[in-house]
Amino acid sequence: SLTETGTLVADAARSGGAVLAFNVITLEHAEGIVLGLEAAGLSGILQVSENAVRFHGGRMPPVVAACREIAASAGVPVSVHLDHVQDLGLARTVVGDAERLGISSLMVDAAHLEYEENVVTTGDIAEAGHRASLWIEAELGEIGGKDGAHAPGVRTDPGEAASFVARTGVDGLAVAVGSSHAMTTATAELDLGLIARLTDLVPVPLVLHGSSGVPLPALRAAVANGIRKINVGTALNLGYTAQVRRFLDADGSVTDPRKYLAPAREAVRDVVDELCTEVLCG
Ligand code: G3H
Ligand code: ZN
Repeated sequence: SLTETGTLVADAARSGGAVLAFNVITLEHAEGIVLGLEAAGLSGILQVSENAVRFHGGRMPPVVAACREIAASAGVPVSVHLDHVQDLGLARTVVGDAERLGISSLMVDAAHLEYEENVVTTGDIAEAGHRASLWIEAELGEIGGKDGAHAPGVRTDPGEAASFVARTGVDGLAVAVGSSHAMTTATAELDLGLIARLTDLVPVPLVLHGSSGVPLPALRAAVANGIRKINVGTALNLGYTAQVRRFLDADGSVTDPRKYLAPAREAVRDVVDELCTEVLCG
């Protein structure tokens, strides 16, 4: 069933667990993710990034509507989130049309801005978003690697994070604690002590980005130390693309995309099922 991100994160916080949020690129990602959540018997979040919207010419892509429909017919609670929004016009579109889109949350990605500018931009969107009942995530301390670079070494300062949350009124905070986007091996080293200090000082749930690069035991430890939303993208694409490649390598004459998208979708399902089970039930 279609639910709201705020509800899923609040449930996770109440039980000392976390909710996993998966990036959707194609329709088969969304289907595979929900199949994986159903197999694990857990709720989760389908998230579409601004990059994915831009890939489709900047208009809200049909895959967002597909996410809403796929979530609505899922056997477990699933919400739809708009991830890494830097374009204020896009943020306004979502805020103005959230209910029709089925989107219940949005991440403001203004961590690249100078601190005061990040506070003002994030605060403005949080205020508008709250009027539309959206759950608003923001980021402090840039989590590097969105363009492929690794190990930026940036860390979120707990005192600054607490004051950022108080000034902006956001509902969740993405923190820089050692993970990095788009890693294809799980070799990141999380600063668990920093996560614990952030949990002590920051009054809203913490979000981990770049989770594909984090080993499973470290993901479990991150949850034990207070991470409540875990964002995963690249790990799905590794499985998806490996299956497409395997199929095309073995069959040089295939023309119907469904032939290789079916195993790609199954790979996404398996990655989601395993990750959810290992991190939340392990
Ligand atoms: O917001 C999305 C995530 O941070 C995904 O990062 O592709 O490195 O798993 P990842
Ligand atoms: Zn991210």
